[in-house]
Amino acid sequence: MGYGMQLLLLEKLKEIRDKMTTPRELIKWTKDLSVGIKEIDNQHKRFIGIINSVSKKAKQNGAKGKPSEDITELIEYARIHFTTEEGYFKKWGYPYAREHIAEHEKLILKVLRLSERSARGEDVFQVLLDFLKEWLENHLMIHDKKYAKYARENKLI
Ligand SMILES: [Fe+2]
Ligand SMILES: [Fe+2]
Repeated sequence: MGYGMQLLLLEKLKEIRDKMTTPRELIKWTKDLSVGIKEIDNQHKRFIGIINSVSKKAKQNGAKGKPSEDITELIEYARIHFTTEEGYFKKWGYPYAREHIAEHEKLILKVLRLSERSARGEDVFQVLLDFLKEWLENHLMIHDKKYAKYARENKLI
């Protein structure tokens, strides 16, 4: 990707980030996030819903709240969603599956690590939320849109 393209992409991401983040720091679904596959969009909406509920509870409980239950739900749903996407990669023979799956694994690992830190009494809420928001936005906009484009171009969907 050329430097100019990268700058454009960064600008677009910033614009979308501003739209996605409400004053209460929740993530808002917008059409910009759509990958054009209904099943996947619905899963992403649900994923965002779970992140927002973690965010809301974190606010209510303050720094001392225990995020472990939310984190479990989040990891469980992430696994379901990733399995759906990875199933399509297999079916489609998607050439960038390996990189994409590595990104999924990175998320699970990072969240598990944060969950361990939280179990040891550390306040990881803000780090967790910042990480999730950034991961979701970048992953969805770059990696998920890439497979959707591939599927469309190859008439797989
Ligand atoms: Fe993905
Ligand atoms: Fe996804």
